[in-house]
Amino acid sequence: MTDVFLNGKFIAADEAKVSVLDRGFVFGDGVYEVIPVYDGHCFKLKSHLERLQNSLDESRIVNPYSEKHWETVLNKLINLHLGGDQVLYIQVTRGVAARDHVFPENTNPTVFVMSNLMQVVPVKYKKNGISAISLKDSRWQRCNIKSTSLLPNCLLKQQAKDAGAEEALLISDGYLTEGSTSNAYAVIDGVIYTAPKSGKILAGITREVVISLASKAGIRLIEEPVAEFKLTDVDELWTSSSTKEVLPITRLNGVKVGEGIPGPVWQKIDALYQHAKAEERNDG
Ligand SMILES: Cc1ncc(COP(=O)(O)O)c(C=O)c1O
Repeated sequence: MTDVFLNGKFIAADEAKVSVLDRGFVFGDGVYEVIPVYDGHCFKLKSHLERLQNSLDESRIVNPYSEKHWETVLNKLINLHLGGDQVLYIQVTRGVAARDHVFPENTNPTVFVMSNLMQVVPVKYKKNGISAISLKDSRWQRCNIKSTSLLPNCLLKQQAKDAGAEEALLISDGYLTEGSTSNAYAVIDGVIYTAPKSGKILAGITREVVISLASKAGIRLIEEPVAEFKLTDVDELWTSSSTKEVLPITRLNGVKVGEGIPGPVWQKIDALYQHAKAEERNDG
């Protein structure tokens, strides 16, 4: 049985127990992070820990650990899983207390970290692109918090799966916000568009990398949301996330996007992304 980290201890996953009164269980009152690990090194660790801090601050949960301590815990777990490519999952909840919506006093957060093998992105996703459907964004207005309360995202993702698609692109007030589990981009006349940071999206770490790569490559990127009615007329559509990287969407609602094949701007960004991963690995 693989080891996980729970409240200060590295223990076998089947021995790791959390109280039924944990507010993460009762209310979904917690936040999380997902960090990719390549060749035993966390990719963009600092950015992930900063976003964790931000999610905790917004949720009014005190960060139980310093950055240094998080690093120690994560590295130990990576080593227990023998390095290589992994995905770390961190969850911090407000802790165990009698059920009451009001925050408990003097309760310690519950801290859980696990590592899973990194799932290789299917070759066909990059070769042919993925398909997506557009759906009304039914989530709350504080999507910048990486909250464990993910019922809306689960419902949207399942609706995409039921329709034979890999992702749901979400529309709020007539504009594309992001995917149910990813950020979203459109390319129009060689310019990349992605929704700006706000409560309507999760500020993805992969999105941050894409923005920086586009800037270094001299590709214009504008942080502006794309109107839903324009989505039938874009050259390229993409998603990005830490576990699936940057993926081209070649069918939206059953209709070809652009030429219906992964586009040249995506090819360029994907190549740069692979390079950035390799570079950080060598630096680590
Ligand atoms: C709703 C949502 N937006 C964006 C992202 C992408 O974030 P990141 O690139 O940090 O993985 C995710 C990833 O899980 C997500 O769930």
